[in-house]
Amino acid sequence: MTPCLVRACRGEDTSRTPAWLMRQAGRYLPEYRKVREAHSLLDICADSELTSKVTLQPLERFDLDAAIIFADILLPLVPMGIELDFVPGKGPVIRNPIASSSDVDALRPFDPREHLHPTLEAISSVRSAVRHDSSVIGFAGAPFTLASYLIEGGPTKNFGRVKSFMSNEPQAFLALMTKLRDVSGRWLTAQAEAGADVLQLFDTWAGWLDPVTYESLVLEHSKGVFDVLKHMGRPTIHFAVGAPHLIELLSQAGSDVLGVDWRLPIDEAWGRFSADCAIQGNLDPTALLGSEKHIREAVRDVMQRVNGRPGHIFNLGHGMLPQTPPEAVTIAIDAVRSYESAAA
Ligand code: CP3
Repeated sequence: MTPCLVRACRGEDTSRTPAWLMRQAGRYLPEYRKVREAHSLLDICADSELTSKVTLQPLERFDLDAAIIFADILLPLVPMGIELDFVPGKGPVIRNPIASSSDVDALRPFDPREHLHPTLEAISSVRSAVRHDSSVIGFAGAPFTLASYLIEGGPTKNFGRVKSFMSNEPQAFLALMTKLRDVSGRWLTAQAEAGADVLQLFDTWAGWLDPVTYESLVLEHSKGVFDVLKHMGRPTIHFAVGAPHLIELLSQAGSDVLGVDWRLPIDEAWGRFSADCAIQGNLDPTALLGSEKHIREAVRDVMQRVNGRPGHIFNLGHGMLPQTPPEAVTIAIDAVRSYESAAA
């Protein structure tokens, strides 16, 4: 049986709208916080049983169509020689950021099976644990977003370091993007081979670029990742935040689905695609902090705008906020299902 999410990614008609939520496993769930009391994020990711456990937690509570494997886009950078920490309240911090072409040359080769086998083992075990009509989603960071972390090293307000590296060190930037596109392509291929049904590429920070820079220095590398994945036969999702000005270009990178945030109404965003892609989104994550009435209205607005067009995957416009009450998720998913039964 082809899972509902896979069919929707291909733009086929489905009996229901597949729904999953970015960051559906994580701190808003008390059962996740309990695991985190005893284990760091990197400890969880290095242990296939803990990874499987937290990956499945949201599926035990909510009527979701997919499990996204618990990992982080930055994991492949660690075996490449990057010293990474997740600092509470600050996010990811890299102690040896990239500042020169010799730093790029010094990055070590990444071998998914050798370096990240716990994640791959967890994909296989989650695939056997979920229903046949559910999907397992594997993911990776897009070259530009990974390069931003590597060059910025920590939180940034304006991406000044990565942008000046792009203009001052064009050769080194190209070499870095070429390495990272290979890393993400091989990492997603390994996840598909381990059993991931759908693959998502997160280009979280692409929206900080203007369209000319994105098109000339970034697009071909994201395209390169999707090109490598073509022969795997697994649908792909491309996602960027805060990027309404890049929609046309993002939709040309070669994915089956483009994920959009909440900044544009979903029908307007879909109308701007310049390639024939399915769409994922786009409830504002803060809608889940409102009253039940507000949540139901916000979900209904998304569903009405899509109006039953095949190729819609319901999701948030970005990751779940840590302060989200789990009950809000139950309400949102119920609102998707009741919209459909009323429309049927
Ligand atoms: O269900 C899931 O989606 C969880 C799996 C997941 C994590 N990171 C675990 C995590 C996924 C899909 C990611 C992707 C990721 N990581 C992205 C792309 C998605 C996006 O949000 O745009 C990015 C940019 C990162 C980098 C990253 N990792 C950041 C910015 C942070 C800190 C943010 C925060 O909320 O603290 C992390 C840490 C991180 N990765 C957490 C989780 C659950 C929170 C820390 C914790 O549990 O201790």
